[in-house]
Amino acid sequence: MSNKKGRVDLLLGAQWGDEGKGKVVDLLGSEVDVFARAQGGANAGHTVIVNGEKVVFHLLPSGMLYPGKLCVLGNGLVIEPEQFINETKELFDKGQDRARLAISPHAHVVMPYHKMLDKLQEAARGKGRKIGTTGRGIGPCYVDKYSRSGLRIEDLLNADILREKLTQILEEKNMILTKLYNEKPLPFDEVYNPARKWGEVLAPYVEDTTALLRKAVDDGKRILLEGAQAALLDIDHGTYPYVTSSSTTAAGAFTGTGLAPRDLDRTISVVKAYTTRVGEGPMPTEDLGEVGEKLRTQGGEFGATTGRPRRCGWLDMVVLRYSSALNGADVIALTKLDVLTGMGPVKVCVAYELEDGTRVDTFPTDTRVLENAKPVYETLPGWSEDISWCKRFEELPKAAQDYVNYIERELNTPVKLVAVGPDRTQTIDRGMKD
Ligand code: IMP
Repeated sequence: MSNKKGRVDLLLGAQWGDEGKGKVVDLLGSEVDVFARAQGGANAGHTVIVNGEKVVFHLLPSGMLYPGKLCVLGNGLVIEPEQFINETKELFDKGQDRARLAISPHAHVVMPYHKMLDKLQEAARGKGRKIGTTGRGIGPCYVDKYSRSGLRIEDLLNADILREKLTQILEEKNMILTKLYNEKPLPFDEVYNPARKWGEVLAPYVEDTTALLRKAVDDGKRILLEGAQAALLDIDHGTYPYVTSSSTTAAGAFTGTGLAPRDLDRTISVVKAYTTRVGEGPMPTEDLGEVGEKLRTQGGEFGATTGRPRRCGWLDMVVLRYSSALNGADVIALTKLDVLTGMGPVKVCVAYELEDGTRVDTFPTDTRVLENAKPVYETLPGWSEDISWCKRFEELPKAAQDYVNYIERELNTPVKLVAVGPDRTQTIDRGMKD
């Protein structure tokens, strides 16, 4: 029997990322004691708007904007030290009172050769086979982790261990760089010296984060696990190979922090009111015409990490049913509802028509089948009134309320929060904080 005293919420993206998770974290922020990330790295991009100022985090948890809180980078992350240093510095320069930060010694280090290999591998894949990665070295770093030849944060803290491991690693990496990709080898000192410096800068933050989180739960603290990327980018359950290299669904939160499944109280699924995707891979509701363009412009749909225009289209209920089941969504946070204002009648994809003419309402497991799936739409009434000022659900136009009710009914999950604009205050809270 669990005698757990704390409260753990897990926040996950339900589509292909960029659902506006940062904003939801931000809204819950004042109630939370500990924010933790469990997977991914600087491929994420959390945008939050505070007092009209846009702040983008790639590596740091969004909770960093709350002074006095504890922010954890768990063991499941792949950390690019330079990025970490830049983000913490930016916050400090802005005069932001920093939250206390703890980094797991078991998180892996994204090294310069990982970023090089990420780009070289993408180029080698050639047209039609590219994944469209963020170029942050995520895949190659996780490869090293799982082949047990990676560097962990703890390795940066000990000069002798770092020297020994890096000597061996660079031997292999330089073979790959020179023989396979015709690149120049990386001189040892050019990799080792900065890595030693990173170790010195990171050392004060390195702590046993698993123990820290365990204690927080036992002490009755409120913890928010911030998922990065989203269900359809999951290495196992996503649209492989067009995915990221970590477990972005609920299970990843436990391996990536050391918390146990029974610690979890609530899973919050963050759903954008329409669909977007960055990078390659199937996206049945992608609209290459006017609708896609309008969503992109009205929604400011350009990648926070790479600046790439996002692919846009109508909401896909097949995707949402799939991700809700995978994640065990207890509640939904619906974001960017305001972007649908003035779009005319709103379409929702309820099923796919496959190449052989069959109609399915479950997510196809075969990526190639999905690539040829055509969306089957239902049309719902749209609205043209400005909704960005609405603070209560009843203030929304009837058609917008119906849209929210539709999602709630179809997924059999309460929509506890509706975002109607980018600012912290532009939110309808229907009990998300409870
Ligand atoms: P990687 O994570 O850089 O290896 O990229 C793999 C795929 O995941 C690419 O399609 C990226 O565009 C996508 N991706 C990675 N991180 C994010 C994110 O935070 N939001 C949306 N897409 C992402």
